[in-house]
Amino acid sequence: MTTISVVYHSGYGHTEKVAQAVGEGVKSANATLHMIKVGADGAILDTDWDHLNSSDAIIFGAPTYMGSVSGPFKMFMDATSKIWFTKGWKDKLAGGFTNSLSMSGDKLNSLFQMAILAAQHGMVWIPQAEANTSTSEPGKSGDVESVNRIGSYLGVMTQADNVAADQSPNQGDIKTAQLYGTRMVEAAKRWAA
Ligand SMILES: Cc1cc2nc3c(=O)[nH]c(=O)nc-3n(C[C@H](O)[C@H](O)[C@H](O)COP(=O)(O)O)c2cc1C
Repeated sequence: MTTISVVYHSGYGHTEKVAQAVGEGVKSANATLHMIKVGADGAILDTDWDHLNSSDAIIFGAPTYMGSVSGPFKMFMDATSKIWFTKGWKDKLAGGFTNSLSMSGDKLNSLFQMAILAAQHGMVWIPQAEANTSTSEPGKSGDVESVNRIGSYLGVMTQADNVAADQSPNQGDIKTAQLYGTRMVEAAKRWAA
C-alpha cells in the first residue's frame, strides 16, 4: 500500500484547510494517509517521525509569512537535519504547498525552500501539473473556480482572504490541492514500480 504523509503548519487554519484537501486527494487514490500537524513550537510527535520515515512520499505545507515558510515550519525543517545525517529520506518523493493572503505574497520563495529541503535530503520533487484553466476567457484570469488559478507549477499555491478558514481558500484552490494529493499517489506508485 502506498503511504503518503502530509506534514504542515497552520497558524490560523487556512493552510490546514488546504492540507486536508491534499489529504482528501491522497485518500481518493486509495493510499494510506498520515496527516501531521507541526506545532507552534515546530515540534511533531515521535510517532509522526516514524510515519514520515516509513512514507513513500512526504508533502510539505506551510503558510507564507513574511515571504518565507512560517517560523514553526522552519523549525520542523531544521529538525529534519537529524534524518539528513542518515540519508533516511533519500529517494522518497516530495512535494509542497503554501498558502497566503496575497495572490503572490512571495509564495514562490516558500516552495523554493521546501524543494531545496527535499533536494538536501536526496528526495525526488513532484511538481504541480494542472494547467491554469482560467486564462482563455476575457476577464476570467484568476477565476476563483479555476484549478491552479495562481499559475504555480513548482508546487501548489493557494490564496486565503482574511476571513474564517471555512470560507477561504476558495473551491478552485481546494480542487487544485486535491488533485495534487492524487498526483502524488500516482507518482509514488510509478516510482515504486
Ligand atoms: C506573521 C505573518 C506574516 C505574513 N506574511 C505574509 C506574506 O509575506 N505574504 C502574504 O501574502 N501573506 C502573508 N501573511 C498572511 C498569511 O499568509 C495568511 O493569512 C494565511 O492565510 C495564513 O495561513 P494560516 O491560517 O494557515 O496561518 C502573513 C501573516 C502573518 C501572521
